[in-house]
Amino acid sequence: MRPTLRYSLPLVAGLAIFIGGGYLLVSATSRSWTEGDVQLRSELAVRGARQGLLEHWQKGDRRGVRKLIADITTDERILSAAACDTAGQVFARTDDFPDSIGCARFVEGAFGPGPAQVWNQRATLQGERVYLTAVPIVSEQANVGVIGLIHDMRFAQQRDELFRRAAIWLFAFLAVGAVLLSTATARAALRGVRTELRGLLLGGSERPEFVPLLQDVRELARQLAADERVAEGGRAWNPDRLREVLHEHLRGERVVIVANREPYIHERDPEGGARVLHPASGLVTALEPVMRACSGVWIAHGSGAADREYTDANGHLAVPPGEESYTLRRIWLGPDEERGYYYGFANEGLWPLCHIAHARPHFGREDYEHYRRVNQRFADAVCEEVDRDDPIVLVQDYHFALAPQMIRERLPRAAVLTFWHIPWPNAEQFGICPFREALLQGLLGSSIVGFHVQAHCNNFIESVDRYLESRVDRERIAIVHGGESTLVRPYPISIDWPNHWAGRSPPADECRREVLRELGLPEDALLGVGVDRLDYTKGIEERLLAVERLLERYPRFRGRFRFVQLAAPSRTAIDRYRELNESVELLAARINATFGDGEYRPIILQRQHHEPPRVFRYLRAADVCYVSSLHDGMNLVAKEFIAARDDLRGVLVLSQFTGAARELTEALVVNPYDLEEASSALAAALSMPAAEQEERMRALRTLVAEFNVYRWAGRMLADAARLRQRGRLTQRLAVGAA
Ligand code: F6P
Repeated sequence: MRPTLRYSLPLVAGLAIFIGGGYLLVSATSRSWTEGDVQLRSELAVRGARQGLLEHWQKGDRRGVRKLIADITTDERILSAAACDTAGQVFARTDDFPDSIGCARFVEGAFGPGPAQVWNQRATLQGERVYLTAVPIVSEQANVGVIGLIHDMRFAQQRDELFRRAAIWLFAFLAVGAVLLSTATARAALRGVRTELRGLLLGGSERPEFVPLLQDVRELARQLAADERVAEGGRAWNPDRLREVLHEHLRGERVVIVANREPYIHERDPEGGARVLHPASGLVTALEPVMRACSGVWIAHGSGAADREYTDANGHLAVPPGEESYTLRRIWLGPDEERGYYYGFANEGLWPLCHIAHARPHFGREDYEHYRRVNQRFADAVCEEVDRDDPIVLVQDYHFALAPQMIRERLPRAAVLTFWHIPWPNAEQFGICPFREALLQGLLGSSIVGFHVQAHCNNFIESVDRYLESRVDRERIAIVHGGESTLVRPYPISIDWPNHWAGRSPPADECRREVLRELGLPEDALLGVGVDRLDYTKGIEERLLAVERLLERYPRFRGRFRFVQLAAPSRTAIDRYRELNESVELLAARINATFGDGEYRPIILQRQHHEPPRVFRYLRAADVCYVSSLHDGMNLVAKEFIAARDDLRGVLVLSQFTGAARELTEALVVNPYDLEEASSALAAALSMPAAEQEERMRALRTLVAEFNVYRWAGRMLADAARLRQRGRLTQRLAVGAA
């Protein structure tokens, strides 16, 4: 039974019983009131005429008695009357007193066993309801007779009807009111419980009855992590374990990665020399440690102004600088190619298409043509770099939706694993792309397509189902298209653990001292931090607005709390990004003008590239880190903050619209659009007792340590290797059979 039906049936039955019961009660009450009323009126009428009646009766004056009872019947509700003697005979009557009624029943009723009394009875006269009343006339010596009255009950009927109708409405109204009231009360109570639970998770509640629940949740999370580890052979994931997987499944062959962004960029420095930059990129954060562990080739766009000077004739360069363990192959793109492929189709088309961040996608045909050609150039580079006909190739992100099919065309036995680092939109949204079929076909050249979360896998499958001639194999979670099958899998990405940069950073208290000194802040300053590329999907404006709301609502933080936004300029050739730069700057200035005082500025906006050591110093120094993405596949800054906090301090406030929010449940998870909620969470974070910070951070660190990037890569590579193995077997069997 559907839940709504399950709950509404008893409700409707309850309401019906309540209204029916109410109706019966009101009817009975109305009837008894009517009868009481009639009886009283009869007594009053007869009592008023009693003296006259006695006198005339005792004199045997029938006319006198008749006149008096005729007077009584002038009451419009008394139809007729009779004076009956004690023998039950009519002594006098009004003209319309019916024979069929007679006197006997009146006399019997009034003078029955026991003392004389007023008697009454319901009856029917010619189909109409009437009411009979007998009022005894008694002298000092003896019973004289009774006055029998016949009452017209139509008025009572009408009154009953009116009452009943009113009763139905009244009880219906009461019942509905009661239901609404109790629903509202229940909802309020439920909301209260939710708020308490949320408050507890946000660190703002101290209600002791919820504490065991939170402990249970934490215990459950620990248990799940432990179970997961047991299921995987009881060993933690680290570079050695990843190498073992590679050895076992790939027998030392090299991994080939295709990713637009290169892990090391050679830029010119102001003195005319060159320096190596680490780009602000979640993709690089995740893949670089994997490549360090695996060795192999990373094929990327050579985007640095000094890149060519550091590569050989084939675009090759051994990296990481000073710790060389894998090869970077740089692909050179002309300005038109970069504009069309990277800025145009990838970042003005696919990026807004895949993120719910209210930017209109733009799909130019010329941009698409560049995108297609650049995809072909990278696919060709893969074929140049591989050393076998069935390599494992990892294609990264939305820059290369077409490359998998191009690789498969040239290397049909390759295992191509494509990982999409950003969300995949629902089928309807995806459908607005004029090149949707080509993109889906391109991606289905992969053996496996991976996303961070199951919801994006589902959206992808729905999109293929809607726009391509294909079959969805729901058992294997695969798509069969053109005789080939593609598995669709969630692989939540992560960071390296132990973390490379955290391991090289000074201890937290030293970082804090340095950062406060650098910013010229007092020791007791409260510090918030945000670290992002300047991108409209990151919710930087919402973040600053939440800080503004915090200062409005909680004056105790004014003059003490500062929020440092480390913002790396990104994709500045695109109008939307330039607009964002300006609006963030204006917003910061406005908030500083409102709450600034003397030296105090609540927002410290640092719009420049920040190298990882500096980012980690800030992450370590902060009391709170706020990740407020409006939509984000995963968001690795959240995980880097956790990696940075080996002192177990600091609180993570995290947007519910990040993939990370599904894993990092000990963060204070908020809707970044809801400034009340976000500012409350910031206040809760800044007021959180040290013990609670430690407990939350410990749980978060356990989780990220367990679900790290080596696990992500290991599972993907093992899946790809298994698929390739199955392909080999199938081929051998086919050859054998032939
Ligand atoms: O999130 C998608 C992504 O490719 C990330 O992997 C990376 O963090 C970011 O975009 C980098 O953008 P870009 O390479 O355009 O600077």
